[in-house]
Amino acid sequence: MTCLAAGRVHLPAPGSSSSAVLHRMGIMSIQIAPSILSADFCNLERDLKAISNADLVHVDVMDHHFVPNLTLGEPIVKRICEVTDLPVDVHLMIEDPDRWAPEYAKLGAASVSFHMGATHAPVRLARQLRDMGCKACFAVRPAEPVEPIFDILDEFDMVLIMTVEPGFGGQKFLDNQMGKVRRLRDEITRRGLDTHIQVDGGVSPKTAHIVADAGADVLVAGSAVYGAEDPAAAIESIREKAQAAYRA
Ligand code: DX5
Ligand code: ZN
Repeated sequence: MTCLAAGRVHLPAPGSSSSAVLHRMGIMSIQIAPSILSADFCNLERDLKAISNADLVHVDVMDHHFVPNLTLGEPIVKRICEVTDLPVDVHLMIEDPDRWAPEYAKLGAASVSFHMGATHAPVRLARQLRDMGCKACFAVRPAEPVEPIFDILDEFDMVLIMTVEPGFGGQKFLDNQMGKVRRLRDEITRRGLDTHIQVDGGVSPKTAHIVADAGADVLVAGSAVYGAEDPAAAIESIREKAQAAYRA
């Protein structure tokens, strides 16, 4: 079911064709997912309230192994799910997501992303997450091709194209990933799928039009939202710029 609220469109349920229809009608809405990696971890509840006009809250889980940074894990994700009204979008940058991803679904994550370079059985894991009522998302690093996913695309609700090397906020946007986003959008359109394309890294009011023009519809932004004086206004600015440039 697609929820039209306050002019926004939330991720439809797995298997729903509503977003494909909206794409064809050219009215698919852009979704903004602020990353709390740039929030104040000692004031998380306050900083979650500051982004209440967002569509999702993006939570980066890092393990010091898959990426050279360490953030947070299950106890904190559990509390985030309890205190926010937004769907929680967990981005796992960890080894062995086949083992750990379902734990985040159990905690109440609305979607879980796991990386191509870390998973052993992506189809089995995606099916397991979907069976638990959680959206499954496959993440691709800058040096990884997207084409290997094409044959299993319908197993996923969203594909995450990294527009920085994963691990840290505040890095420079890699515009050389836009060819990948375009090829993926073309494939999704050609097959009439409703898969979302998420981009993560260096997204700001200055780069939002570039990713939206390439066909991304879920935009993660950390430093551009939490580094702004007014996070809610930054969200609206990214949304406006992206919506104006979006190609379905
Ligand atoms: C980086 C994380 C991102 C990060 C983005 O590995 O996956 O979600 O928070 O930060 P910005 O938007 O500052 O590039
Ligand atoms: Zn992320």
